[in-house]
Amino acid sequence: MIKIAVIPGDGIGKEVVAEGLKVLRKIEELSNVKFDFQEYPFGAEHYLKTGETLPDWALEEFRHFDAIYFGAIGDPRVKPGILEHGILLKLRFSLDLYVNLRPVKLYHPKLTPLKGKEKIDMVFIRENTEGLYAGAGGFLRKGTPHEVAIQEMINTRFGVERTIRFAFEYAKTKGRKKVTLVDKANVLTYAHDLWQRVFKEVASEYQEIETDHYYVDAMAMKMIRSPEIFEVVVTPNMFGDILTDLGAEIVGGLGLAASGNINPRGVSMFEPVHGSAPDIAGKGIANPLAAILTAALMLEHLGLDREASLVEKAVAKTIEENKVTPDLGGELKTSEVGNEVVKNLEVL
Ligand code: NAI
Ligand code: MG
Repeated sequence: MIKIAVIPGDGIGKEVVAEGLKVLRKIEELSNVKFDFQEYPFGAEHYLKTGETLPDWALEEFRHFDAIYFGAIGDPRVKPGILEHGILLKLRFSLDLYVNLRPVKLYHPKLTPLKGKEKIDMVFIRENTEGLYAGAGGFLRKGTPHEVAIQEMINTRFGVERTIRFAFEYAKTKGRKKVTLVDKANVLTYAHDLWQRVFKEVASEYQEIETDHYYVDAMAMKMIRSPEIFEVVVTPNMFGDILTDLGAEIVGGLGLAASGNINPRGVSMFEPVHGSAPDIAGKGIANPLAAILTAALMLEHLGLDREASLVEKAVAKTIEENKVTPDLGGELKTSEVGNEVVKNLEVL
């Protein structure tokens, strides 16, 4: 029995998670995998009612699950920051989800704005708890004309090494042949010097895996010109944040982007990259494929590679047949797309 904590959250988070669960239930039917889903109400509605974001008892419960399946949070009625800090960042830091895993995979050539590209299939391993997002810094002479705002970039050998090691282990277990380091070591001569040294050290333990390196600015260009050359990419927090959005855009956009927040020795959390989309929430037109591909990513993480690949194929077929929501040029509703994926699972 695989135990999954489900947090649908707000807006379209609820709508797309419902479709992801539909697909997972079909997988149960078609294989001998059994899921035990437990749903949690955390999000804006719960916060407005109770003042509670994510209580510590829930965090403790999550540690006993095999994975967390998350929709999205965010609501115009709640001050920005409260739910992000209270729920998402709390999950990330308390459960030490130190890798942000973002596949950038083209499921159909018609989805990419890049001319002539048919195969894009890379996976970003973004460091998820340090770098410029560690929250270290402060103001000097705040509010005066001579104000100084300082934001420190934190890079610990421990944090850098475990992230880079994850990238090589990932490449090894998934049969991928190359790991690319993206940094800005030519300018960030301390922080990214550490990344380069650790990368070399760890790489030497994986002789069978090829290595490659790009400065982040060159990487942005290369991802547009030759995205097919990348397999696994490892990069610090902020560069990963930016490049993965660029990556999402070259394979079809937010409606398809899946992600995992991983702690290889604990419980990991899987979520579509998009937010709660208040502009389309309640209309039944949100694209559920990002959430469904997120479910596939979760299956893969749980060692259910065959089931994961089945879901991916069902999604690819749905796109091929243009049974998609308006954001991808289709006319289907959220739940109809979910039904199509389920139908494709049956015939595959
Ligand atoms: P968003 O991702 O919710 O929406 C951006 C645009 O993309 C909107 O026009 C939306 O309609 C569209 N879109 C997003 N997902 C879609 C889907 N599955 N199908 C079709 N169209 C889709 O980002 P936005 O508008 O900046 O933020 C809205 C709220 O979501 C805010 O409260 C924000 O803080 C929160 N948010 C939460 C995230 C999370 O839970 N991890 C991530 C990003 C934003
Ligand atoms: Mg981002």
